[in-house]
Amino acid sequence: MGRIRILPDQVANQIAAGEVVDRPASVVKELLENALDAGANRIRVDVEAGGRRLIRVADDGHGMNRDDALLAFERHATSKLRTADDLLSIATLGFRGEALPSIASVARVTLETSTGDEAAGTRLEIAGGKILHVDDAALPRGTTIAVADLFFNTPARRKFLRAESTELGHVTALVTHYALVHPEKHFELTSATHTIVSAPPVTRTAERIYQIFGKDTLSQLLPVAAETPLAHGGLPEPPPWKKDPDEPVRDPGTLRLTGFYSKPELQKLNRNSIYIFVNKRLIRDRLLIHGITEAYRNIIPPTSFPVVLLFLEMPPEEVDVNVHPAKTEVRFRQQSLIHDFVRDSLRMALIKARPAAGFLAALDSAPLASPSLMPPSESPLPGAPESALPPDSDAGAMTATDAEPFQLTPLVPAPVPGSLPFGAGGSNPAGFNPAFFNRGSWTSQQAWGEAVSALFQPSGPPNGPSDAPNAAAATALVEAEQAAATLNHLGSLHSIGQLRESFILASGEDGLWIIDQHVAHERVLFEKILRDRQVEHVQRQRLLMPMLVELKPWQMVVFARIAEELDRNGFEVEPFGPQTLAVKAAPIGLEGAALERMLTQVIEQCSGDSDEVLRNHDLTALRTRIAASIACHSAIKVNTPLDPVRMEWLLLELAKTNHPTSCPHGRPIALLYSWKEIQRAFHRI
Ligand SMILES: Nc1ncnc2c1ncn2[C@@H]1O[C@H](COP(=O)(O)OP(=O)(O)OP(=O)(O)O)[C@@H](O)[C@H]1O
Ligand SMILES: [Mg+2]
Repeated sequence: MGRIRILPDQVANQIAAGEVVDRPASVVKELLENALDAGANRIRVDVEAGGRRLIRVADDGHGMNRDDALLAFERHATSKLRTADDLLSIATLGFRGEALPSIASVARVTLETSTGDEAAGTRLEIAGGKILHVDDAALPRGTTIAVADLFFNTPARRKFLRAESTELGHVTALVTHYALVHPEKHFELTSATHTIVSAPPVTRTAERIYQIFGKDTLSQLLPVAAETPLAHGGLPEPPPWKKDPDEPVRDPGTLRLTGFYSKPELQKLNRNSIYIFVNKRLIRDRLLIHGITEAYRNIIPPTSFPVVLLFLEMPPEEVDVNVHPAKTEVRFRQQSLIHDFVRDSLRMALIKARPAAGFLAALDSAPLASPSLMPPSESPLPGAPESALPPDSDAGAMTATDAEPFQLTPLVPAPVPGSLPFGAGGSNPAGFNPAFFNRGSWTSQQAWGEAVSALFQPSGPPNGPSDAPNAAAATALVEAEQAAATLNHLGSLHSIGQLRESFILASGEDGLWIIDQHVAHERVLFEKILRDRQVEHVQRQRLLMPMLVELKPWQMVVFARIAEELDRNGFEVEPFGPQTLAVKAAPIGLEGAALERMLTQVIEQCSGDSDEVLRNHDLTALRTRIAASIACHSAIKVNTPLDPVRMEWLLLELAKTNHPTSCPHGRPIALLYSWKEIQRAFHRI
């Protein structure tokens, strides 16, 4: 007898369940997606014991008749796909026909469903993949699926589940994500004791953000919208001789982007606060994360990450969603085009908005994310590396998310007035802002600390979800304040004087400005150096006497690697003996000790780069580094008196830069103490 055997269905389903269902949140994901695919407008999720004991998802979608209800639990049974060609343009969230049989193979499931136009609905019970009962039942239109005792028959899986609060955190994250993509639908999430999410329909995403995360978060985000017509479809064209001449020419469609991005002052230590949705599907994608971090290059430090909610819409043919069993990864057919579109749209939005850092907000948001902020201690995937990755470079952004198939960063629950202050003794979630946590009151479960979002801070009850009807008014207010807080008027400021010979004070229509003279000048120089370098027009000055710089042998090796780029940046440097460099010319403004410090700093910074990086000509990075270093060392220092003419000049020059918001290392340049804040502080409003 041969050795090979066909596996029984139940075993096959359990194997599939291993890929699709690894924790309560993934069950919720599948059920939510089914509800959305069924056209539901109202979705309610109830969980008990973090979803281990019970997950119930009720929707008001189109429901199923009795035959379909039975078929739905068969492997590869789906209503969403018919032919292989359909796979090329999937417009629904599900399509594999795997989720329900997988879930039913590892839990006790009850399905209640009705199409609303038949005499009776259907009630079906199934446990460990076996149908126990099928009955008629009087039910309203829609579907309710209850999943009890998850992994009751697979103890090994059950062991991997984390604390209830952690699992609940992941479920919350998921419901929140879907609520964000569908502001027009009603989402509710409750645990046995709390209403965690309650989001009645609103018309705009901004209102939804306000409903879920509150005003503070919304005020730190700015909207972005862009679109570009696709030059051609991503699918290969058939060869001319196979083309049907009568077939109409296909419109390749449009690539659209909408969303929200954070002002530079809001920075996170990991990329968990970057949310990307493609055709309303939450995905993770290294390439797009890279595009986003590129947009923020030299605006925030390379070790920090922004908060971004990105909704991309494109023709379904442009994206292959059939690359991951949990459908959390996709493959774009025109990868680099989408990457560049995301990067450029965000970059342009940042240049246009020139968001000004509010004085108080900058204090709160700790722009130099301090190293004491630790990533969350829980990993979303059993056995997988930690979800929150340590701060790392842009290159890291390309690889690190491999660690987990789903960036389920738990988000915060609705505040429960009168409960314990959040974070008292809890672990310190990634990138969170401790200041915010001292303000609001939070759910009694201290363990929420493990699950809380890296993205959004809680807000106190007046901003919370409870006052949803005010969402529109509140978002309008926030938008007005956002529009006011821009650096577009920098050029018309009137300088009042200097504070400790280090900060320029200036008055403007919108309030009192405090400008850090060193970083302001640094930004002006940085952009000028990059511009001049681009057109090979860097001005250099000859030194009267060559300056000798002593280096260590390994530093000489690094120098040799970057010598050519230094030359193009205005340096004339030659080796002078085995461990000495002779600097004969340098960029204008750089002299003496500053020149020596600058050179050794750049050599130091480049020493970590492997030969490969330099050989691959990661020239942009090298150029940026050199420009930032020259700018830093030749900029006006703090503790330097400035006369009014120089102050005005500096403000004007700063106004002309692309990013007057922050220095190349990410520190804020100008803070606005807004007229409103001043009035408020003096109790005048
Ligand atoms: N909430 C629901 N309302 C109406 N029909 C549903 C609902 N949930 C599931 N179905 C039906 O059951 C079928 C099987 O669902 P299942 O989730 O197993 O597969 P799928 O959604 O087609 O694909 P995938 O495995 O990718 O999720 C669906 O195709 C759909 O027709
Ligand atoms: Mg499905």
